[in-house]
Amino acid sequence: MSADAAVTPVQMEVLQGMSPFVEQKLSLLAPIATAWQPTDYLPDLTAEDWREQMARFRGPAAELNDPLLVVLVADMVTEEALPSYSVALNLLAQDKTGVDPTPWAKWLRGWTAEENRHGDLLNAYLRLTGRVDMRAVEVTVHHLLTSGFAARTYPDLYGGLVYTSFQERATKVSHANVGRMAAQQGEAALNKICLRIAGDEARHESFYTQTMGKVLDDDPAGGLISVMSIFRRVIAMPGRLMYDGKDPDLFDHFAAVAQRLGVYTVDDYADIVEHLVATWDIARRPASGKAARAQEYLCKHAETCRSKAAMVAEAAAKQPAVKFSWVYDRPV
Ligand SMILES: [Fe+2]
Ligand SMILES: [Fe+2]
Repeated sequence: MSADAAVTPVQMEVLQGMSPFVEQKLSLLAPIATAWQPTDYLPDLTAEDWREQMARFRGPAAELNDPLLVVLVADMVTEEALPSYSVALNLLAQDKTGVDPTPWAKWLRGWTAEENRHGDLLNAYLRLTGRVDMRAVEVTVHHLLTSGFAARTYPDLYGGLVYTSFQERATKVSHANVGRMAAQQGEAALNKICLRIAGDEARHESFYTQTMGKVLDDDPAGGLISVMSIFRRVIAMPGRLMYDGKDPDLFDHFAAVAQRLGVYTVDDYADIVEHLVATWDIARRPASGKAARAQEYLCKHAETCRSKAAMVAEAAAKQPAVKFSWVYDRPV
């Protein structure tokens, strides 16, 4: 049982009872011997022709426009705040020693190690392109890590799984869209990088979605109520508290750029809700009372989100351009 009195013992028992299932799902982590590393996607600065490699690398990156740079920086900053997400997920993983041999603890460490490459690669990419003010970007990462991260699910452990299922899919969508737009702007290397990262997010999404599905099998009423309580509020992106020391509404300003570009929109949000409700077979779970009401709410939720899409798109379109320190205070 948990030492944290706010966590319900029932949830803790269900999650610990799932240990053999989680052990099996550790296969969703890539074997380190064959895993990609950031170096595989960057110019080789130890090579004799490093100058030519750098020139070839920087050429296409010089063509990326400011809106795409802004969403790329925001994605990178979000990835760089990984230490905060690992801390938050340890409520689920309960790694007491830092080297616990339990499946949940092994997952958390393996997941952290894979995610760590995302921030590393995007950071190195952006630095080498010479396209953004790296110091302003670093100040933003510093602030975000200092401010912290709350999935706003505490002390609901199932809620942590609902949030991560949603977020891994959301980051997959966002990275894949940035990659697609990079290709449209002639930047094939960035396209590859973003798709590679999106592929990792897809494996992670699969883990969290399957474990939450198992929770719904083992504790349908508790699971349904948790999904509803998380979906009832807007699921905020993990970089919500980002700040560059200048713009107090930095996250909202970035989110408007992402909406306008079509990198991550209210329609994407509704699609994710729809996908998870279908994948978790919410409509067919046995339910009565409060759980049945949660089920009914969830089955209509994607539609409710979608009904707001036009309004949000219109508001984002109307928002005047704002200066982003990341691109030397140019308005985007
Ligand atoms: Fe990531
Ligand atoms: Fe992720």
